[in-house]
Parts: sequence; C-alpha cells; structure tokens
Amino acid sequence: MPKALRVAVIGCGYFASFHLNAWRKLADVEIAAVCDLDEAKARAAAQKYGAARWFTDAACMLREARPDFVDIVTTMPSHRGLVSLCAADGLPVIVQKPFAPTYADCLAMVEACRVAGVPLMVHENFRFQPPLRRVREVLDTGVIGTPLWARISFRTGQDVKAPQPYLYDEERFIILDLGVHVFDVARFFLGEVDTVYARHRRIDPRIRGEDMATAMLGHANGATSIVDFTYESRKLPDLASQTLVSIEGTMGAVELGPDFRLAITSNGKLAVENSSKPLPIWRPPVHPAQDSVYHTQAHWLDSLRQGREPETSGRDNLRTFAIVEAAYESAASGQAVRPAQ
Ligand SMILES: NC(=O)c1ccc[n+]([C@@H]2O[C@H](COP(=O)([O-])OP(=O)(O)OC[C@H]3O[C@@H](n4cnc5c(N)ncnc54)[C@H](O)[C@@H]3O)[C@@H](O)[C@H]2O)c1
Repeated sequence: MPKALRVAVIGCGYFASFHLNAWRKLADVEIAAVCDLDEAKARAAAQKYGAARWFTDAACMLREARPDFVDIVTTMPSHRGLVSLCAADGLPVIVQKPFAPTYADCLAMVEACRVAGVPLMVHENFRFQPPLRRVREVLDTGVIGTPLWARISFRTGQDVKAPQPYLYDEERFIILDLGVHVFDVARFFLGEVDTVYARHRRIDPRIRGEDMATAMLGHANGATSIVDFTYESRKLPDLASQTLVSIEGTMGAVELGPDFRLAITSNGKLAVENSSKPLPIWRPPVHPAQDSVYHTQAHWLDSLRQGREPETSGRDNLRTFAIVEAAYESAASGQAVRPAQ
C-alpha cells in the first residue's frame, strides 16, 4: 500500500470545489489543510471536504500543516508568489491555469522550482478529458496515418462570468483563459507549434478583453490546425463544455463530434463509438471538464510517486503559454508570429 500523500490546498473559491471533491475521491491522498484569505471560505471548505485544518495565511499553513505537496487554486496574479513560497519550502506544487499573467512570471516559477529541485505541474486539465485521451489513443494506433490537418473547437454561450466575475476585468480574456486549454490540446495532438496567426474580438460590451478568437497554427511537423473558441456562441444546441475535434491524416480521419460521438475513418472504412466515460462523482449534469480535474490530479499523484515529469509540467506549459503570447501579438499586428522557444 503506498503511503497516503497529504495535500494542502490554497484558494477555496469557485473552482476549488472540483479539486477538493476529486482529492477526496482519489485513493491514497488526504486533505491535510485548506487556506483562503477569506476565513469563511476556508472554514466552510474544511468542513465540507473533511480537511483536518484551515488557515487564512498560506505561509503559516505550510509551516504548521507540513503537507507533502501543495495545490494552488487561486487566480493567476497570486501564482508567482505562492509557487515561490512552495519552492522555498521544498514542496512539490500543482498550480491552476492560466499559469500567470505574463511569460516572464511563468519563467520565474519554472526557474524557482528547478533551482529548488521540486516538481511543478500546471493544472492544464482539458487534455485529460477521457474523450480527448481516446482521440490521442486513436492517433497512436496509426490508423489514420500521419496527421496533416485539424480543427479544434470550443464554442458556447454558457455564462462563465457569473461564477467567475473577475473575468469581466481581464484585459486579456478568452485567449488566456480558454485558448490556453485549446492550444494545449492542439500541441497534444499535433506537436509543437512554430507559427501562429490569430484574430479576436469583443462581443459582450461589459467586458474589458476579448471573448471570441480564431487562430491558425503551423506545427513543426508540417501539419496545420485551426483552433477556434468563444463564450458568445448563439448556436443551439449549446455544447457547453464539449471540445470538438476533427483530424485528417494520410490514411483516414478521427472526429470527436457533439455528445462525444467518435468517428474513425481508416482505409476507406468508418467506425463509430461513444467516447464518453463520465465519473459518478459529480452532481448531474456530468461535465467533461469536471471529470478531467480528477484525471489531472490522478496524473499528478502518479508522476509524483514515480518521480516522473508530469505531461503538463511548468516547463512544458511554457510552450503553451508562448502560443498564447504569440496569438495576442498576431492579433495586434495582423502578422503571423513565431512563439518563443
Ligand atoms: N481548469 C479549468 O477548467 C478551470 C475552470 C475554472 C477556473 N479555473 C481557474 O481556477 C483558478 C481559480 O478560479 P476561481 O474561479 O475558483 O477563483 P475564485 O476567485 O472563486 O477563488 C480564488 C480564491 O483564492 C483566494 N485567494 C487568493 N489569493 C490567495 C492567497 N494568497 N492565499 C489564500 N487564498 C487566496 C481568494 O480569496 C478566493 O477565494 C483561476 O486561475 C481560474 O482560471 C480553471
């Protein structure tokens, strides 16, 4: 039996409930402590999710609760300070996306953890959604041959700003908040990106940033992908948190359509399956993004126990973040941009 790992969670707001629910369900991990600047939130989370202790000061929690690792579920302006705190204490750390407001902050966190010799993972959960893992599996079998072209799409009109009101004030909104997930999925399927051409616009006049964007990515292996995402789609049925994928290769195609219908074409033959594998741990409706939180955290635990670098380590996430920066630069200049390497 592996020893149970003790997690300390920083941030007990909207999205932390998914993390805490998943930590509670995962085997061999216990919630040692939770922390929020808001005492009422910290106390309520400890009570609801069975944390032994609660705190309002992260440094104090790390000193007193002595966890095995830390899960940061605060919004991005606090990430650099909190990750540095964990690195200074020699504690492995998993931190929510977006990694940070700037690429320089991301680099600083990666460097702080490298110097301290502690593992760092970004909670980049989309690629851990079971239907997207299944697409990756299909690619790995080689049945569609070499991927040449893809479209990856996330379009909804769901009100994401109601539970996350801070999104109204983000100067850089949808590319950084949502595009970062979809770009990571593009890397997951087609590999590294060497050119980005993007356009974006603001539809909801109440926000500061942009809420609709499309990018064309040139992958280093010669493939091209179209990546599009919006929170202002009026199309019905609204597919809410579903990511749609279409990939064509030299021998066939794989398409993840609405409601997780997976169509695989290989050598002129079509096979169709349902790729949905919902976990029974959430209140209905089952949500693929919520499922992926569990799988992301399971991957982190596994990597920590095996001493392996996680798929979406801080170092790896620099490449996804560089695509975000390139997309903003491209949208501003009207030119294709090479992401930082
Ligand atoms: N991966 C996903 O699918 C997904 C979905 C939604 C949100 N998120 C991300 O999750 C993160 C948190 O979002 P949220 O909506 O839960 O935000 P939130 O504002 O509801 O919660 C954040 C909490 O962190 C606390 N906090 C901030 N700084 C702190 C500090 N130094 N010490 C202790 N507590 C501190 C705040 O008081 C707040 O309660 C964001 O980065 C967001 O982008 C990810």
